[in-house]
Amino acid sequence: MTNGKKRVAVVPGDGIGKEVIPAALEVVRATGAAVEFTEFDWSADHYLKDGTTVPPEGFAMLERDFDAVFVGALGDPRVKTNIHAREILLGMRFKMDLFANVRPVKLLDASLCPLKDGSPEKINFTVIRENTEGVYMDMGGFFKKDTPDEVATQEDINTRKGVERAIRFAFEYARAGGRKKVLMSDKSNVMSYAGGLWQRVFKKVSAEYPEITPEHMYVDALCLQMVREPQSLDVIVTNNMFGDIVTDLAAALQGGLGMAASGNIHPGKTSMFEPVHGSAPPIAGKNVANPMGAILTAALMLDHLGLGTQAKKMEAAVAAAVREKKTTVDVGGKMGTRECATWIAEQVAR
Ligand SMILES: NC(=O)c1ccc[n+]([C@@H]2O[C@H](COP(=O)([O-])OP(=O)(O)OC[C@H]3O[C@@H](n4cnc5c(N)ncnc54)[C@H](O)[C@@H]3O)[C@@H](O)[C@H]2O)c1
Repeated sequence: MTNGKKRVAVVPGDGIGKEVIPAALEVVRATGAAVEFTEFDWSADHYLKDGTTVPPEGFAMLERDFDAVFVGALGDPRVKTNIHAREILLGMRFKMDLFANVRPVKLLDASLCPLKDGSPEKINFTVIRENTEGVYMDMGGFFKKDTPDEVATQEDINTRKGVERAIRFAFEYARAGGRKKVLMSDKSNVMSYAGGLWQRVFKKVSAEYPEITPEHMYVDALCLQMVREPQSLDVIVTNNMFGDIVTDLAAALQGGLGMAASGNIHPGKTSMFEPVHGSAPPIAGKNVANPMGAILTAALMLDHLGLGTQAKKMEAAVAAAVREKKTTVDVGGKMGTRECATWIAEQVAR
């Protein structure tokens, strides 16, 4: 923090990231929050220009000089290997050790929900996804590749430290937010080794939080529950891959990818915030992308930075935009990205 201002590094990235991030910054500025933004052009364009993604010491610089990082999306059809996206995004998650992916699933208006009786009272839960382990560690191999006898393995890595800190984060999150239940989801009936570790650690950690009810559900049953009885859910904690899958289902419950926000958090360290959607190349540059996921992500970031009042204003303005259909086409409105953001910024500035 300098001059009392929180310092935020901004990486718009590729495709619609370059549109929704400026839109979200316009709304943050309208709140008058004491935040200072510094933009970095880490993107496919930059990679295609000089072959580099993140400068040497780039992640250390983010940790040293910034309070948070705000990212748009990465992915561009011109970079077939997707190497720039991996280096930038997975680089942040792994090298900055951002072990908890926090996905609030909050329906802002019943009109956005595909469930026939979905309402904001019924859909209000959070998924905590372990963010640094599991099958995302790229461990495995091929044997007899490209032959009829080919064997492929993909390792699912679960460390006690990694599992424990994710589960503990979920309980701390529940405690801080006055939430009543934490549900751990796994597939321990078939994945007995990894699941066994999650089960034992969950039992141990949950005993330290007597005011919070621990629950368990296999991940397939959880998917069913998310659709049939979302009101029964409060805080969910799960591994990297199951978290990846259930949060897309959750995004559908709250109005689609354009509405979903996320934070990649390591308490006490510089954390990173990004809308859940990708770079959406087919709609990029057309002023049609929904900026609300990015705006809600910026609100999540402000809340994390201790600027809860401004965050609440932003969320209320997004909810008002949905109610009054001042939205982009994907959620039933007629506005462009910029017009939608400006309408929301005006509400916030009132
Ligand atoms: N975190 C990230 O940066 C991230 C996440 C997912 C995908 N990607 C990358 O993005 C590229 C496209 O991937 P994809 O098509 O699987 O996912 P995507 O999220 O970009 O798009 C999926 C669908 O949702 C629509 N959509 C997404 N965001 C929207 C928004 N804000 N407003 C309106 N519609 C929106 C798209 O038009 C598309 O139909 C790929 O290169 C992929 O690797 C990046």
